[in-house]
Formats: sequence, structure tokens, C-alpha cells
Amino acid sequence: MRIDILSAVPQLLKGFLNYSIVQRAKDKDLVEIFVHDIHDYGKGKYKHIDDYQYGGGAGMVLMVEPLDRLISQLKSERNYDDIIFMTPDAPVLKQNLVNELSLKQNLMILAGHYKGVDQRLRDLHVTREISIGDYVLSGGELPAAVLTDAIVRLIPGVLTDETSALTDSFQNNLLAPPVYTRPPEYKGLKVPEVLLSGNHQKIAEWREQQAEKITKKIRPDLLDS
Ligand code: ADE
Repeated sequence: MRIDILSAVPQLLKGFLNYSIVQRAKDKDLVEIFVHDIHDYGKGKYKHIDDYQYGGGAGMVLMVEPLDRLISQLKSERNYDDIIFMTPDAPVLKQNLVNELSLKQNLMILAGHYKGVDQRLRDLHVTREISIGDYVLSGGELPAAVLTDAIVRLIPGVLTDETSALTDSFQNNLLAPPVYTRPPEYKGLKVPEVLLSGNHQKIAEWREQQAEKITKKIRPDLLDS
């Protein structure tokens, strides 16, 4: 898979992309990630990329021309399955969409900044808009990093234990059950006996019951969907 991330503050992404699971996936040649600085396509001597919004209002808006040039250049080099714009005014990211995106070949992710991007850029190029939650961040870099991490860890071969992504929270619309490791007792708190029993059928049943119980308590909305 190839992911191109477009950003006005690429420094924000560098650390994240060079550590963690994403680095492991890059080392194994399972993903290539390219970060593009929108300023490289900026206008004039000062490489302008933003301007005041028409009609007045606080905040600068990313101009259509620099981004159009950058995106058109990338599109001329390969076909993109999706050109994604990270923005709070969009449907909220869910695991089923992450699963779907992890099967794609080429993704482009645009991290907005300032007050947003000129609507014409969205009309011209963006095929999907994603929010990471009902709150506003100061830019789209962290959301782009969140989306990239969620996708990359699902690419086959990235996680060492192939089954572990399947038992994540939200797969099957359930939160994950509690997990324990050694010691069997700590400060009077005991690991549930069933987990020490070696009875895999019983353990699976217990985990399912716990997942349902926790989901009902914390996120009952998941059970309705
Ligand atoms: N940019 C700013 N806030 C955001 C959010 N919640 N989701 C995606 N992009 C954003």
C-alpha cells in the first residue's frame, strides 16, 4: 500500500511515522508513506498557501491553487482509490471504514489547517471526508496520523499475531473484554479463575459475556447499530 499525506506542517507527522507499528510496516515493505509539504507548491516568492476568507470571518483558508497543483501532480503519477480530507465537519471514523481502507492500494490524505480549505478543492478532488471525533483540533495532522495508524496495523503481515486485530474493540461492534497477565494475584485482586482453567471453550464464552456486559454499560449505542 502507498499513502501520500499532504500537510502544511509536515514536521508534526515525521516523529509519528518513524516509530511504532508504522515504522515496522515500512521496514517490512508493506507500506510506503510519503509526506508532502503544501508550501512546496505555494504561490509566489513567499510560497503562500493560505488567504483570508471571502465574506469575512476569523481564520485563514488554504487556497485552492497550491493544493490543486500538488494533488493533480500526484494523480498524474498513479490512480488513487480515495482522496481523503480530514475535517471535523464529516462522518466520524468507525472501524468498518478502517477495515475497508486497509484493503486499498493508493490513498491520499489531506490534513487541513487554519480554518479549512477552499470548498472548490473539496469539490474538485476529495472523494471522502473523515472526522476523528466530535471535537475540533488545530489541524488535520493528528487526525491523519490517527487514520494512518488505524489502517496500517490492519495490513496483513504488520501485526505479528495475525489474530490480534480481529479481537480488537469494535470488530463485531463490541468493546474488548478485560485482559490480565502475571501475577495471578496482586494486592488482593485475583485474575478470574476461568482464565487460568485452560478450558478454551469456557474462556471464549467468558470473553464474549464480558464484551457484551462492558459494551452494554459503556457504549450501548454500539449494540443498536
Ligand atoms: N481537523 C480538526 N479537527 C478534526 C477532527 N475532529 N477530525 C478530523 N480532522 C480534524
